[in-house]
Amino acid sequence: MSRFWSEFVHHLEPYVPGEQPKMARLVKLNTNENPYPPSDKVLKAIADHADATLRLYPDPDASALKQAIADFHGVQPGQVFVGNGSDEVLAHLFMGFFRQPKPLLFPDITYSFYKVYCGLYGIDYRTVPLREDFSLALADFDSHNGGIIFPNPNAPTGRLLPLTEIEALLQRNTESLVVVDEAYVDFGGESAIALVNQYPNLLVVQTLSKSRSLAGLRIGFAVGQAPLIDGLERIKNSFNSYPMDRLAIAAGVASFNDHAAFEESRQRIIASRDALTAALTERGFSVLPSAANFIFASHPEHEGAALAAALREHGVIVRHFSKPARIAPYLRITIGTEEQNAALLAALDQTGE
Ligand SMILES: Cc1ncc(COP(=O)(O)O)c(C=O)c1O
Repeated sequence: MSRFWSEFVHHLEPYVPGEQPKMARLVKLNTNENPYPPSDKVLKAIADHADATLRLYPDPDASALKQAIADFHGVQPGQVFVGNGSDEVLAHLFMGFFRQPKPLLFPDITYSFYKVYCGLYGIDYRTVPLREDFSLALADFDSHNGGIIFPNPNAPTGRLLPLTEIEALLQRNTESLVVVDEAYVDFGGESAIALVNQYPNLLVVQTLSKSRSLAGLRIGFAVGQAPLIDGLERIKNSFNSYPMDRLAIAAGVASFNDHAAFEESRQRIIASRDALTAALTERGFSVLPSAANFIFASHPEHEGAALAAALREHGVIVRHFSKPARIAPYLRITIGTEEQNAALLAALDQTGE
């Protein structure tokens, strides 16, 4: 705290990211990173671009990256916005589109950064409860609103909505923007990008942090109709003209051009998720159906906080949220390599679980 802080800074409630421990030997299953490295082609692209041109500013439009994303998703480059991680893309769209007289709606259990951006930008919001089984009831989002945002699959539950339900919402809710945050969609969902040409009220956000193993480079993007993208560009160019550095642009392009590595890594994680779900179920856990690179699991005889602490003693870190009370029994466990998942199970067996 400092006497130089403004009142505004005093009242902010910042996001608390998952721990990034300095100890190397921990089995780190707490922040939904990809356990596999980026592909060789991506690493080569970074090495090839780590040269004297780094003295020059990057392309402010990151046009090569927009083109690669557009080609991959079958849209026009003018329908793509890129930012320094999808968190930055989200921040810009909250600032640009959700500061409305009516409240923004999002689920009561969801990505906790949404509330933080509302605090930062003074956005009025209302949360909509998930059903008993933690599924998202889009019909409950029908009240008057200044925008709607939800992740699909949702975080931290991993539960997926079919595209048909999202399309029905877009048809009912034509007067405000619907944002689908698809950070985890590559692990089992169908992308709503397929709907952007039909619906001017839809913006889809994705990231290269999860399915493309590039959390450390910070690359996120949004796809929507050109007028929405133009709005985001106006904000970006009023904030930071160069959010994407030269290495990030080169690596992002290489990633979208390496279909084989992308497929292999995500299929491996999907297979491991199914195996881990079965192994935990055998041990008495109840595991929500997940379409993400993590699972949300609880045990009837053990408290979530105690389990997380016991795992930590055995060198395995997972994420536990004490609030809201409804999710306190659960652990959010990132899918690791086969070895990491085996270490998790061994640690559970040693903790008496
Ligand atoms: C639902 C959701 N959206 C967005 C993000 C942000 O991802 P990034 O800023 O790494 O692109 C995350 C990160 O965990 C997330 O869980």
